Amino acid sequence: MQLKEALAQGTQILEQALIPSPRLTAEVLLLHATHSDRAHLFGHPERELTDCERVHFGRYLNERLQGKPTQYITGHQEFWGMDFLVNPDVLIPRPETEFVVETALEIARHSFGEAPLNIADVGTGSGCIAVAIARELPACTVYALDISSKALETARLNASRSGVENRIRFLRSDLLHLSAPDENSALHSNNSRAPCKGTTLVVPNQKRQAGASAPEVSAWSSAAKADLNAASVGMAEAMPLQQFTDSSLLLPPLHMVVSNPPYVSERDRAGLQREVREFEPATAVFAGESGEEVYSKLIPQAAQSLRRGGYLVLELGYDSQGSVRQLLAGQEWSEIRWRPDLAGITRVVSARRTGEQLHELP
Ligand SMILES: C[S@@+](CC[C@H](N)C(=O)[O-])C[C@H]1O[C@@H](n2cnc3c(N)ncnc32)[C@H](O)[C@@H]1O
Repeated sequence: MQLKEALAQGTQILEQALIPSPRLTAEVLLLHATHSDRAHLFGHPERELTDCERVHFGRYLNERLQGKPTQYITGHQEFWGMDFLVNPDVLIPRPETEFVVETALEIARHSFGEAPLNIADVGTGSGCIAVAIARELPACTVYALDISSKALETARLNASRSGVENRIRFLRSDLLHLSAPDENSALHSNNSRAPCKGTTLVVPNQKRQAGASAPEVSAWSSAAKADLNAASVGMAEAMPLQQFTDSSLLLPPLHMVVSNPPYVSERDRAGLQREVREFEPATAVFAGESGEEVYSKLIPQAAQSLRRGGYLVLELGYDSQGSVRQLLAGQEWSEIRWRPDLAGITRVVSARRTGEQLHELP
């Protein structure tokens, strides 16, 4: 079978099964099966497929017919002009999430200039937001947080491929609360050290509220930083992990918290595309019964973790605006801005952490 015949047949099969964009999908799967690019496909349409290529192409078509997203078959998705590795442990980065990055960059450049910033990406998944921000803001340190150790592994790989792994800390967390690595996690090491309770890493919440600022960050001893780094994915071999006895370890005071959190409600589950419902990780997609559960925890946590004058940037679900508006009401937040995506749906909100010491930053 020639390349052009394979492409035509693949397109027809996908079309008959009502798979969206059948021609493009067949082309992507054929390129993946033949390890070639479009120039080769269109420059040599009469090249015969090898047996191995035919088998692979057939398998990929079959997987797509079963509902598996094309990106999980090829293992790649473009985001912010970069190639990201994806797998069923991570959400496939969406184009609309680029608005989160765009908003965060605008705020960072406008409000903080070239200052070295501490930015947390909560629910980093593939690491797409964290990596894009780290690439664009060379002076910043990004804390890439996720409840899933497997997602963190993928994020770390993506950071490494983009050359920014040295400026991103990958940490397992429950939103903004850092947590101990779980028993089965790839982070786990046999060489456990003494608990880190009592190091300067454990900053009491009250102290934060009372006005922690830059000196508190610099007060981090290198030992405390090492403790935090030890909880980073990918460092388990270089630096043994301690067993944290205190599950409320804190990050340094943050200039910005960005997040594309899970926001789909259980009641919307049945109406979701099969590709999302059956193949993307449920922890990445579903927030709970109402869909606002994660926002309702994350927004107060962000108020605690941000420096006064710092910013929160959140991606919104199509119907999240009302509940997020309520959660941002009150004196802790100001400069609340809603941004629509290209379809006119309010997609991103940004808000500034207010407080008695306004204009504290940078
Ligand atoms: C919608 S996905 C976003 C992934 C990526 N940031 C993106 O935009 O493509 C949400 C991510 O949040 C993570 N997550 C869910 N609940 C969490 C929690 N309680 N704490 C930390 N991360 C959580 C999921 O594992 C998932 O990676």
